[in-house]
Amino acid sequence: MQKFAKYMVAGKQLYTTHCSNCHQESGQGLGKLYPPLAKSDFMMQNVNRTACLIKNGIKGEIIVNNITYNQEMPALEELTNLEVAEIATYIYNSWGNERGFVTVKEVETSLSNCQ
Ligand code: HEC
Repeated sequence: MQKFAKYMVAGKQLYTTHCSNCHQESGQGLGKLYPPLAKSDFMMQNVNRTACLIKNGIKGEIIVNNITYNQEMPALEELTNLEVAEIATYIYNSWGNERGFVTVKEVETSLSNCQ
């Protein structure tokens, strides 16, 4: 199997385990509680920030597609860089998102520069 395809398959599984409770299988999020990942302008703006928030969580006010969210997303520190890359590849290339492959190397760089 091609590397990209492998990442997509592994990423989907990890997404189901770690993310879909809140963001839903469809990536649509849940009302005013959980923001969407499908066609999210916030996510598309910055892949580095996404890698960091997957690993470290995020809280405080954020605006996604003109809607304000202010809840806490828990950290997932147990994820390896490879797993973060697989999840990122999956969410950036599903539900109409078309950003392309997010490599482990990219994730490594992102995670060493988290704010
Ligand atoms: C317990 C619920 C929960 C889980 C589990 C969770 N998130 Fe989140 N996520 C949130 C909340 C709440 C926010 C908004 C945080 C804020 O208001 O500052 C958020 C924000 C985000 C954002 C940035 C906003 C956007 O919609 O673009 C991304 C990307 C994201 N999550 C991806 C993930 C991924 C990938 C996973 C799994 C690895 C995950 N989340 C697991 C609740 C969750």
